[in-house]
Amino acid sequence: MRIDVLTLFPEMFTGVFGSSILKHAQESGIVQYRAVDFRAYADNKHRKVDDYPYGGGAGMVLRAQPLFDAVDDLIKDEQKRPRVVLLCPQGERYSQKKAEQFSKEDHLILLCGHYEGYDERVREYLVTDEVSIGDYVLTGGELGAMVIADSVTRLLPGVLGNAESAITDSFSTGLLEHPHYTRPADFRGMKVPEILLSGHHKNIENWRSRESLKRTWERRPDLLEGKALSEKEQKWLDE
Ligand code: ADE
Repeated sequence: MRIDVLTLFPEMFTGVFGSSILKHAQESGIVQYRAVDFRAYADNKHRKVDDYPYGGGAGMVLRAQPLFDAVDDLIKDEQKRPRVVLLCPQGERYSQKKAEQFSKEDHLILLCGHYEGYDERVREYLVTDEVSIGDYVLTGGELGAMVIADSVTRLLPGVLGNAESAITDSFSTGLLEHPHYTRPADFRGMKVPEILLSGHHKNIENWRSRESLKRTWERRPDLLEGKALSEKEQKWLDE
């Protein structure tokens, strides 16, 4: 898979693409990242990427031309038009479901802006998806692009080992994860639940399922909406 980011601050991506699991995924040839400075595509002498808004008003607007030309350049050898994702607070709220959809693509182009807005023709004719990473306003789309690159990469086959497999994740299972513990069994008087030391796998599985459901109910009841619960699960919540 290819993930290209169009940004005015490509240096922000050095750490993210060059560390940990994303670095390893790129070195293994599973994914290829590029952070491209779209200022380089501006067709004027001073490489200006913004301009005053038609109709007046405060703030500057990102011009269409550098972004259209940058995308044309990135896709010049491709038959199929890739998804072009605009990061902005007005976009659809990003979710695990969207990450799963994106992970099926061969190529993603992520657009990051830093201005009052984009020329609307970018939204209308260039962009296929508008994504927000949450209900708050950032100084630009870069952090959102990193969130997408990270969450999509870990879903690609071969990126995670079996032990950390994405299939049992919170949000893939639809539930939050159960509590985890490691040694020692008694840390400063704080004890690990007895059942986890019992070696009784069936009981442990049962305990984990119950804790997972209870935690979801307490913290994120919205995730349980429309989910059919078994009699046993309903009893756990009533306890
Ligand atoms: N750019 C500014 N705020 C944003 C947000 N919440 N999500 C994605 N991109 C943004």
